[in-house]
Amino acid sequence: MRYKILVWGCQMNERDGEIAAGLMEEAGFTPANDEIEADVLVLLTCCVREKAENKVYGKLGELQKLKKKNPELIIAVGGCMMQQPGVAEKVRQLAPHVDVIFGTHNLHQLPELLRRVRELRQPVVAIWAQEGEVIEGLPARRAGGSKALVNISFGCNNFCSYCIVPYVRGRERSRNPESILSEIRRLVDEGVIEVTLLGQNVNSYGRDLGAGINFVSLLEQVNSIPGLERIRFLTSHPRDFNPDLVKAMARLEKICEHVHLPVQAGSNRVLERMNRGYTREDYFRLVDSLRAAIPDISITTDLIVGFPGESEGDFAQTLDLVERVQFDNAFTFMFSPRRGTPAADYPEQLPLEVKKERLSRLMEVQNAISRRKNEVFVGKEVEVLAEGHSKTDPEKISGRTRGNKLVIFAAPEDVVGRLVKVHITSAQTFLLKGEYIDALPKTG
Ligand code: SAM
Ligand code: SF4
Ligand code: F3S
Repeated sequence: MRYKILVWGCQMNERDGEIAAGLMEEAGFTPANDEIEADVLVLLTCCVREKAENKVYGKLGELQKLKKKNPELIIAVGGCMMQQPGVAEKVRQLAPHVDVIFGTHNLHQLPELLRRVRELRQPVVAIWAQEGEVIEGLPARRAGGSKALVNISFGCNNFCSYCIVPYVRGRERSRNPESILSEIRRLVDEGVIEVTLLGQNVNSYGRDLGAGINFVSLLEQVNSIPGLERIRFLTSHPRDFNPDLVKAMARLEKICEHVHLPVQAGSNRVLERMNRGYTREDYFRLVDSLRAAIPDISITTDLIVGFPGESEGDFAQTLDLVERVQFDNAFTFMFSPRRGTPAADYPEQLPLEVKKERLSRLMEVQNAISRRKNEVFVGKEVEVLAEGHSKTDPEKISGRTRGNKLVIFAAPEDVVGRLVKVHITSAQTFLLKGEYIDALPKTG
């Protein structure tokens, strides 16, 4: 029996996909190369914006044809979207060919649910309304070679007024540090040299674990793991990014010089209505302190345009903030009302045309900045973790600098998985091109 996993959404789902694959293999399934070859398809869905949901409904429509050709195919749909009230019923109605529907808190039950559906020969639904305890020791089939995602916390307590995540991922639960550290040590033994610590708000890690445990203390311990070369973390919340963390980033040599620091908007009025808990001035101060402590730090962000009631003046403040901060890169989104979140019911919802127009203006400004920031690297030598063949140019190798810049270069196959030196020869908006110099010795 062969399985295939399809993942939408963020790194949380990506990591869940690795766990789902681990669970499937423990249950005796082997990976299929594509959907047509698979006996079981597992879909991990996202509902952060309407577009993400539409993609899933589109895929479910497509799979109806596949199921007609292969009636024995089992389709299991999980992930954030299934955790929303009413969605499981809607999927049952619109896509009766779906066999298993499971929530984000039920991932560990996947093999059992598949067993049940094969025994009962009727659809199975398992959605816990609330998160349970953190479950340790689940198997995983990691995809990343020399780099790995490591959860440090699950869920979110922030309730930004536009965001569905706290409703579908539950309250924030931190993993205990020993479990995290032993997982990373094991990964390093298996050849991993870069870890990305994952949480919706990594900066509040440990608040639920008691005194003495916080994100900085965790970073210190991760930094001391021999053989590990690089540490990244996602996502930081500007409100909880304290001076101790700025100092730790400067002091701990394995932490990469990059921070993803979603600002969302540049107007204080909008930030307040988003329930973000900081002002633009706070954000500027934080960026200044990061750049003072780590001069070559790369800063990326997320931005939402067209939040309900966002005036042209508010939007101008976002453009102004983007010009002032000079982000290395930004993920830009149009506000998408999510049922059950406060902002979906705010008056003054903006028309799609306004959102589209603002998004394109914002992207134009940011793209020019991204390009300028990348051009600075031309002629320089950078450290890159060679990750594999480039998706856009498969003859070449692609990898990332410590500042998280994508670099494409020709190099011998055996550099994959290693840190290498690359001389940058040209820059585009979203990537750098370069010439391979040589591989770096392992330091640890
Ligand atoms: N916890 C992270 C944070 O606070 O930035 C990530 C949250 S979410 C997975 C990633 C991004 O999606 C957010 O930073 C936000 O910009 C965007 N987003 C969330 N809800 C949205 C909505 N309703 N409409 C448009 N964009 C949204
Ligand atoms: Fe959503 Fe805000 Fe939590 Fe991020 S911090 S997951 S944007 S509620
Ligand atoms: Fe991530 Fe989408 Fe869920 S962004 S946490 S997969 S709603």
